[in-house]
Amino acid sequence: MKILVVGGGGREHAIIKTLRKSPRVTEIYAAPGNGGIAADAICTGIGAKDLDGITKFAKETGIDFAVVAPDDPLVLGAVDRLEEVGIPCFGPNKKAAILEGSKVFSKDLMKKYQIPTAEYRVFDDMNEALRYLETAPIPTVVKADGLALGKGVTVAETREQAMAAVRECMEDKIFGASGSHIVIEEFLTGPEVSVLSFTDGNVVIPMVSSMDHKRIGDGDTGPNTGGMGTIAPNPYYTEEMAQRCMEEIFLPTMRAMNQEGRTFKGCLYFGLMLTEKGPKVIEYNCRFGDPETQVVLPLLESDLLTVMEATARGTLAETEVKFRKQHACCIVLASQGYPKKYETGYPITIPADLDAQVFVAGAKLEDGVLKTSGGRVLGVTALGNTLEAAIENAYAQAAKVTFENAYCRRDIGAKALRAKEEVK
Ligand code: AMP
Ligand code: GLY
Repeated sequence: MKILVVGGGGREHAIIKTLRKSPRVTEIYAAPGNGGIAADAICTGIGAKDLDGITKFAKETGIDFAVVAPDDPLVLGAVDRLEEVGIPCFGPNKKAAILEGSKVFSKDLMKKYQIPTAEYRVFDDMNEALRYLETAPIPTVVKADGLALGKGVTVAETREQAMAAVRECMEDKIFGASGSHIVIEEFLTGPEVSVLSFTDGNVVIPMVSSMDHKRIGDGDTGPNTGGMGTIAPNPYYTEEMAQRCMEEIFLPTMRAMNQEGRTFKGCLYFGLMLTEKGPKVIEYNCRFGDPETQVVLPLLESDLLTVMEATARGTLAETEVKFRKQHACCIVLASQGYPKKYETGYPITIPADLDAQVFVAGAKLEDGVLKTSGGRVLGVTALGNTLEAAIENAYAQAAKVTFENAYCRRDIGAKALRAKEEVK
């Protein structure tokens, strides 16, 4: 089978490497792919948002199955376009992808169907939002309605910060049209858990849980990034919590989307906060998480293509989705200076005998040499029979992957190790 994977980051590399294990896969194309993905797929260079280019290529090449991984093409309707020309796809259509595409939509959905989430108010008038903030409880959280490259959320510790975030969205329009509506919501506290799930509108099959590390610095300090590392499973997410989330959040969300005439098929990502009052939804994503995918898929035992096809066809209930009873840790190596200014163009050395998988995010091939080209360059994922072993091995293997100006957090998984003690 000829497969097309839309996207070009570490998440897509993990999806591609996992799909390659399927005996039915003969060729994989990536749109656009990247210099590291080129080792595992044919990179087309077609931009992930170039829906015309993607559809034309898929039709001409005779693609049998497509996987649309990033949020932008999903929200733009890439799946609808590919299905229109007869290509089966993994991923939600445009109507369902709004679950991530609009925070106002997702908050209103949760309220309507009583799915636990932070209390909130929606504003489309800046002065009203500012007036509300004069007396609102602090800290508070300001969110741009639309996609904002993962940067549309401000957790404000002070009134001034919250007001500045509102002005940036609605006056300076730093997120463009995404910020013309905003959500201001209650600040919640508690451990965060990412749960990616397969859903076909009939059942929800959660994958192994995981924990992201969003801040640049050790001890969760400094600015937010696209994710500096992950571990799976997440020790805060006990069996009991999993059951509760299925009943209170996962199934109600699937049913709500069905009722709204927006059946969701694909990977539904639940960003959860385990508060004292129970689990609450912090965010929905309409896709695999990055870098969660880099720890979740290496633990998948079942054939990914079979599971993805069943998701698209609506036959997930009859399909086995099994995960290894092991642990995984992914260390992201970034360019020094990221998420602010950084330099690129440095050659990357990856030993052939690594006891880990390397998922490349920001690198390009220049005369056959792999060189850094982005802020987050790659992720190194190792497995272990315990969380300790997975973390130790991930750091040992990551140390063998070298490029000038490399930076990584030194404490990926440390919080999870402490949590293991807490939840015992
Ligand atoms: P997002 O960009 O939606 O992934 O949000 C980024 C981060 O902001 C989340 O991972 C949380 O740590 C934090 N966050 C979002 N909403 C809330 C909230 N209501 N209360 C506390 N923290 C939040
Ligand atoms: N790791 C968070 C996300 O993919 O949005």
